[in-house]
Amino acid sequence: MVTAVLDGLGVAVPDRIVTNDDFAARLDTTDEWIRERTGIAQRRMAAPSVATSDLAAEAARAACKQAGNDSPSAVVVATTTPDHPMPGVAPLVAAQLGWDAVPAFDVQAACSGFIYALASATGLIASGVTDRVLVVGADLMSRITNQDDRATAVLFGDGAGAVTLRAGEPDEFGAIGPFDLGSDGEHVGHLVVEAGGTRAPGPAPDAPERYLSMNGRDVYRHAVRRMTDSSTQLLERAGLTIGDIDRFVAHQANLRILMAVADHLGIPDERRVSNVDRYGNTSAASIPLALADAALRPGERILLTAFGSGFTWGSTLLTWPDLSTAPDATTHV
Ligand code: ACO
Repeated sequence: MVTAVLDGLGVAVPDRIVTNDDFAARLDTTDEWIRERTGIAQRRMAAPSVATSDLAAEAARAACKQAGNDSPSAVVVATTTPDHPMPGVAPLVAAQLGWDAVPAFDVQAACSGFIYALASATGLIASGVTDRVLVVGADLMSRITNQDDRATAVLFGDGAGAVTLRAGEPDEFGAIGPFDLGSDGEHVGHLVVEAGGTRAPGPAPDAPERYLSMNGRDVYRHAVRRMTDSSTQLLERAGLTIGDIDRFVAHQANLRILMAVADHLGIPDERRVSNVDRYGNTSAASIPLALADAALRPGERILLTAFGSGFTWGSTLLTWPDLSTAPDATTHV
């Protein structure tokens, strides 16, 4: 059986750091409140001249460099903050890389987007459509967050992460799968950007409807339940138990959510990965950013799980490949 095998990882983050104290200086909030409720200490924010495709292309270059292979491949970009409503970001990334006539498309599954993009890429490889795919998770959440709204502004950050995938065998280091994916559109109102699509087109530039609005408590509740259930179902499908999992990388929404899911699943502290303190919630970029920071060892079996607007959720397994001789994966924009 052919599956996708990860052979490169790269991330790109903006240089500018926004601390909790930066918010506290102009909004009715404190460093203590933000840390206690979310675990976030700082996040990155892109300069106005930078678009999602710029950060995505930087991460992609770093991933190709680490793989030691920058030959053209299919491109799948997970993003909820594209450069334009049309076209998607993936063709723009392919163009920035100088890749001509490659398959390229976006996946919009909000904070679950990276898992959905991995599933799409795995399908492209398993079905023989292509034997290499570049998967990028990239979001500039600061662009859809009202920076004057203390309830949402402090939660999100900007970033991009990319992985290169090749065709391989399920028992190789780097192998990805199986997957558990799901959605429930009944809860659209709990986490939504109301305007800018076909239901409410053309908001004024500063209308509140063009920014993300969120019912924090309901998002929290659903996120914990769905990531827990999805991880459990995935393990059943794979014929594994929590004892078989070496590292747990959940979408970095909020430390309390991560800890609650890990507690429900019975994952010991030392197997939990978190860098939400430094990046906040970077949506589709959060899982590759966490992988890049996790100091993973070849052969470790990693459980990935995510939840986001939609609601959407998804989980998969990844056996960490031997990337130790490859150059540093992080670039700054
Ligand atoms: N600073 C100070 N006070 C604040 C802030 C802030 N930054 N934000 C909200 N508050 C206030 C609220 O206005 C409220 O005040 P009130 O009681 O006078 O009305 C009070 O704090 C308590 O608000 P709650 O919403 O009850 O606080 P809670 O303990 O639920 O924490 C939080 C809020 C952190 C948003 C939490 O609900 C949460 O983590 N939800 C999940 C949100 C999330 O992760 N979203 C990301 C997108 S989805 C995803 O990625 C999974």
